[in-house]
Amino acid sequence: MEFEDVLNNRRSIRLFQKKIVERDKLFKIINAATLAPSAGNLQSWHFVIIEDESIKSEIISAAMQQDWLRNAKILVVCAKTDNTVRFYGDRGLNLYCIQDTAAAIENILLEATNLGLGSCWVGAYDDKAVSRILKLPDNIKPVAIIAIGYSQGSQIMPNRYSIESVVSHDEYGKRIIDEGFDLAPLIKPETKKLNKGGMFDKLLRKWRRNPE
Ligand SMILES: Cc1cc2nc3c(=O)[nH]c(=O)nc-3n(C[C@H](O)[C@H](O)[C@H](O)COP(=O)(O)O)c2cc1C
Repeated sequence: MEFEDVLNNRRSIRLFQKKIVERDKLFKIINAATLAPSAGNLQSWHFVIIEDESIKSEIISAAMQQDWLRNAKILVVCAKTDNTVRFYGDRGLNLYCIQDTAAAIENILLEATNLGLGSCWVGAYDDKAVSRILKLPDNIKPVAIIAIGYSQGSQIMPNRYSIESVVSHDEYGKRIIDEGFDLAPLIKPETKKLNKGGMFDKLLRKWRRNPE
């Protein structure tokens, strides 16, 4: 797939066919994750593939009972913090290992799209519960649950803020009208305003009220 098509076609997919994700595709996706940049090339990531149905059920419970995960292959992306902490201290723990894993996650989502698979980044879960279920040692922190599978139907792109509204020049909030450059061709008609009140927003509100 062309790179632009991968970027445009990636959507958060929450409705999957029962079709199993092939092993070779799964490992291609994990390989793509490991090609991401990382601070000091320390590659502070670890990937847990959920194979066992009962563990999957526990993960779903820990993820605010997002039952739509049932038909997906679940991958838990973790930050492996020991080396990054040794080299960079608190900055390694609080920032670099999260940035490393976030870069790896985006590669996962893009490679899944490239291979004709749907995916979704899931961040609403109870960290302690996930660590307990997966028997993660103290130096391994869960950063995201990733759902991967064959999507059922297609998903419309949720709205995005306009490019102008997310860019400043030199200082926050300062805008320069660039006469020589027309943004309009970059802006898709369906991305005019931000869509609030989606399923994830509702889940997050519920979770913030009652995090345990
Ligand atoms: C950090 C993070 C956490 C997310 N957590 C969830 C989640 O728990 N459940 C869910 O259904 N979607 C989750 N999403 C997916 C977002 O809702 C989705 O990316 C957003 O609505 C934009 O849609 P798109 O990915 O199709 O462009 C999460 C995305 C990110 C980046």
